[in-house]
Amino acid sequence: MKYIVCEKPGLFKLKEKSNPQKVEGQAILGVKKIGICGTDLHAYKGNQAFFTYPRILGHELAAEVIDIEENNQNIKVGDKVIVMPYISCGQCIACKNGKTNCCTELRVLGVHTDGGMQEQISVPINLLIPANKLSYAEMAIVEPLAIGAHAVSRAQIVPNEFIVVIGSGPIGIGIMKFAQIAGAKVIAMDIDSGRLHYAKDKIDIDHIVLAGEASGDIIAKITDGEMATGVFDATGNKEALEKGLNYMANGGRYVLVGLSNGKLEFEHPAIHAKETTIMCSRNATLKDFEYVIDILKMGKFPVDSFITHDVSFAEMIHHFDSWLDPKNGVIKATVNF
Ligand SMILES: NC(=O)c1ccc[n+]([C@@H]2O[C@H](COP(=O)([O-])OP(=O)(O)OC[C@H]3O[C@@H](n4cnc5c(N)ncnc54)[C@H](O)[C@@H]3O)[C@@H](O)[C@H]2O)c1
Ligand SMILES: [Zn+2]
Ligand SMILES: [Zn+2]
Repeated sequence: MKYIVCEKPGLFKLKEKSNPQKVEGQAILGVKKIGICGTDLHAYKGNQAFFTYPRILGHELAAEVIDIEENNQNIKVGDKVIVMPYISCGQCIACKNGKTNCCTELRVLGVHTDGGMQEQISVPINLLIPANKLSYAEMAIVEPLAIGAHAVSRAQIVPNEFIVVIGSGPIGIGIMKFAQIAGAKVIAMDIDSGRLHYAKDKIDIDHIVLAGEASGDIIAKITDGEMATGVFDATGNKEALEKGLNYMANGGRYVLVGLSNGKLEFEHPAIHAKETTIMCSRNATLKDFEYVIDILKMGKFPVDSFITHDVSFAEMIHHFDSWLDPKNGVIKATVNF
């Protein structure tokens, strides 16, 4: 079978190897479509410290079961399945408390172990989520959307509250849509006006704000001087992360979804005066995946416009560099097998 491996930063190779062998507790899947995300782009660029090479990337998988033993979920050969790419230990304190998303031993398929850029893959049966009613396109975007669903669930949105989502990339867009579905009045912020217009036109976000000197004043105006009771960072940008608190109302919560890789600085009197709740949101749980699947089944998410680039397996290597450039208008790129 064919597979694409990232041999070292900046270098993909299309190679051949034998099909995976059936192992007890695992299913053999035929990969049908995968989504490409920031993590894959960073791994390719070589700026993700925890990556080791060579690595088969890809953790946003839409697949079909080729071989499986009898199992509790009653998943059968031929079923369409999504793979939950977070391999948790089931025994640590986080797992015992149902927080498998931040397991102390967490390994992510396609990050710490080989992922989906291959025609077939063997994965533990307990990572499979049946998705017979979804299209492959819908299935391939469940994982990135689940990240947003998890963040929104962490924030416990109250209907009619104002929230600001900083960063209108695929992660921020998921947050915006699910917060809107939960009844929040959503304000999208970004430095990229193209992405803001996507949020307005396709996600029906009422308020879009180009990040800059005046963003605080604009948000004060939109919220009638009260500011937002919830602020989400989906940029991972240090400056944006440190500024985000300025948009938050007293008593609000600040949800960090974006990942920056250094220190953040906040003035303690400022965060104290607002009695700020700062919370991080990492990965997603089965509940978040199931929520996203339900939303997709109800047709409440604009899948077609979200997937901006869709290529075949053979073409992927050729296109990958162009997906690194925001000028090409990429929101979500997917690869077909
Ligand atoms: N919590 C998790 O488990 C998890 C999972 C996946 C991704 N992430 C992180 O979420 C973040 C967003 O992911 P993505 O794939 O949407 O990324 P992305 O790069 O596609 O989108 C980020 C957006 O932020 C905007 N931005 C950058 N600097 C800004 C600033 N100063 N002010 C306003 N906007 C700014 C960019 O223009 C871009 O539209 C990343 O940091 C990523 O690592 C977290
Ligand atoms: Zn991802
Ligand atoms: Zn664990």
